[in-house]
Amino acid sequence: MARPTDPPPLIPGLPGLTRMPVLVTGGTGTIGSQVVTELLESEVPARVLTRLPRPGSPGEQVEGDLAAGFGLAGAVEGVQAVIHCATNPAQGQQVDVDGTRLLCDALARHNPEAQLIHVSIVGCWDNPLPYYRIKCESETVVTTSGRPHTIARATQVHEFVARLVGARLGGLALGVRDLRFASCDSRWLAKGLVDLALDEHVSPDPVEFAGPEVMSVRDLSALTAHVRGKRAPRMYHLPTIGGVLRGLADGSNLPGPGAIRGGRTYAEWLATEGNSGQ
Ligand SMILES: NC(=O)c1ccc[n+]([C@@H]2O[C@H](COP(=O)([O-])OP(=O)(O)OC[C@H]3O[C@@H](n4cnc5c(N)ncnc54)[C@H](OP(=O)(O)O)[C@@H]3O)[C@@H](O)[C@H]2O)c1
Repeated sequence: MARPTDPPPLIPGLPGLTRMPVLVTGGTGTIGSQVVTELLESEVPARVLTRLPRPGSPGEQVEGDLAAGFGLAGAVEGVQAVIHCATNPAQGQQVDVDGTRLLCDALARHNPEAQLIHVSIVGCWDNPLPYYRIKCESETVVTTSGRPHTIARATQVHEFVARLVGARLGGLALGVRDLRFASCDSRWLAKGLVDLALDEHVSPDPVEFAGPEVMSVRDLSALTAHVRGKRAPRMYHLPTIGGVLRGLADGSNLPGPGAIRGGRTYAEWLATEGNSGQ
């Protein structure tokens, strides 16, 4: 007799043959929550690793903490894949680097066959931004772990860009001349990550995901201001000195020619979801 909490059968009417869950670390975050939605819409059970399980939230909530290494064994038990979206820029070494190592160790001990999809950032190797150094280190933890894995690098999601430019509307903004984004739709990205996780074959090379177009920060600001009925900021450009600013001005955050491009444009996303004025 099937219980309401049982995963859906692989073939309707044939109980016992069920889909194994996919674990989403960071499944409560911007990208992870879209991954959970995509899994559930694809009728794949989603397990969410979170420090604070919230009753009624989508998916099976499992309490755990990557920094403390707590709850990881139970979280990885019996899953077919892990989509690793957890991050904490304020505790990058503990969460993104050491926590990723603990996750890999838990997989080695309790579920060595499970594939790990490690979410990273396009261009992180090409810019000395401290958070990007952490992302590179966490990629290295995965690539040297011996676990079956795919590195999935994405450009900034539209939510990030909307927060960045939205915070500066109406006034004077400091900016990097020539800064551009190929931001992507987190819902579309989530589908790509789920496709990778359900594919039995790992990709030996990192896979890049990016939005369909490249826009300057000036145009992104003007568009956001227009949709939100505000004034675009007057831009004051910082001198492009230092590796971080020079890298950004040179487009280190833009995708390479082999990137998978798609999803809604920033304008399309803004019109439907990004018009909250935050
Ligand atoms: N945002 C972007 O534009 C973007 C672009 C490209 C790539 N990425 C990458 O995509 C991934 C997801 O980014 P995001 O923006 O979606 O992140 P986010 O919204 O900041 O979410 C972070 C998640 O990490 C979890 N987390 C934090 N500390 C944790 C800990 N100690 N143990 C377990 N979980 C912890 C949080 O879960 P709880 O609070 O529930 O514990 C939360 O769900 C990151 O690797 C990021 O570098 C992001």
